[in-house]
Amino acid sequence: MISYKDLGLVNSREIFTKAMKGGYAIPAFNFNNMEQLQAIIQACVETRSPVILQVSSGARKYANQTLLRYMAQGAVEYAKELGYNIPIVLHLDHGDSFELCKSCIEYGFSSVMIDGSHLPYDENVALTRRVVEYAHKYDVTVEGELGVLAGVEDDVSAEEHTYTRPEEVQDFVSKTGVDSLAISIGTSHGAFKFKPGQKPEIRLDILYEIEKRIPGFPIVLHGSSSVPQDIVAEINKYGGALKDSIGIPEEQLRKAARSAVCKINIDSDGRLAMTAAVRKVFVEKPAEFDPRKYLGPARDKLKELYKHKVINVLGSNDKA
Ligand code: G3H
Ligand code: 13P
Ligand code: ZN
Repeated sequence: MISYKDLGLVNSREIFTKAMKGGYAIPAFNFNNMEQLQAIIQACVETRSPVILQVSSGARKYANQTLLRYMAQGAVEYAKELGYNIPIVLHLDHGDSFELCKSCIEYGFSSVMIDGSHLPYDENVALTRRVVEYAHKYDVTVEGELGVLAGVEDDVSAEEHTYTRPEEVQDFVSKTGVDSLAISIGTSHGAFKFKPGQKPEIRLDILYEIEKRIPGFPIVLHGSSSVPQDIVAEINKYGGALKDSIGIPEEQLRKAARSAVCKINIDSDGRLAMTAAVRKVFVEKPAEFDPRKYLGPARDKLKELYKHKVINVLGSNDKA
């Protein structure tokens, strides 16, 4: 058992309390490799923003859980080396079982998500409560989820959104003891969030209704990439084939961040930025074969994207 406290990490409690009072949200960026992690830390140090490093089950399989843990531990030192000691959370994204959450807690994670959103309500409550009881013994914070996002989530795919029912949130939060709640209000994972012709709009009315039922309680938005069209155009210019990729307009996320939304998850936009930069190098310099020559520009583009998110979408700059 390794405590996240010995690794210099923090749980999400205090940063969410401050975000709630300050009307901003904490960025939750996924990472799977060194370049993504470097870009996240550089961007958040330069903007003086707290950050949540997210690891999915897929990331654990891809990069190895031990390596990811040491990378996160290294990130704490790396941030200090860059000149600023920002609060860093290591969070399990979309945990699907008690065992996985327990294993991550034992590995030094400071926060876990137990995603029982696909289960019947009572089973979601029971599973979430079990994780909370274990996690809280170690002062690890827990995110639960109510409502189902459309698209593919945890290998389960849903055609339509099942929006979170505001009338359930108070009961769920009090029965489970969770520290934050992910909700479904029209966001979805990936780069194809709306069909062409559909108005890209999230249901802020549901968010505000939820906020009324559980005032001051930290809300989380998954699936919050905006799919920047200039980046999509760059990917396609350099040989990509992305068609009809549409995301959540940034001004809607900014509005959400001013309310009870304390954590906004962004992964796909980073994937797009890296892909655009790598494709550009491959087309413009076809003789290049040093990975540093294409992963370096990818890292730089990612960092710019993250800085933009922190300053213009989340509003978490200068809050570390
Ligand atoms: O919610 C999904 C995140 O974007 C992580 O994606 O499961 O492919 O690592 P992944
Ligand atoms: P995006 O696919 O919109 O980036 O969402 C990421 C996410 O919710 C990770 O949990
Ligand atoms: Zn998610």
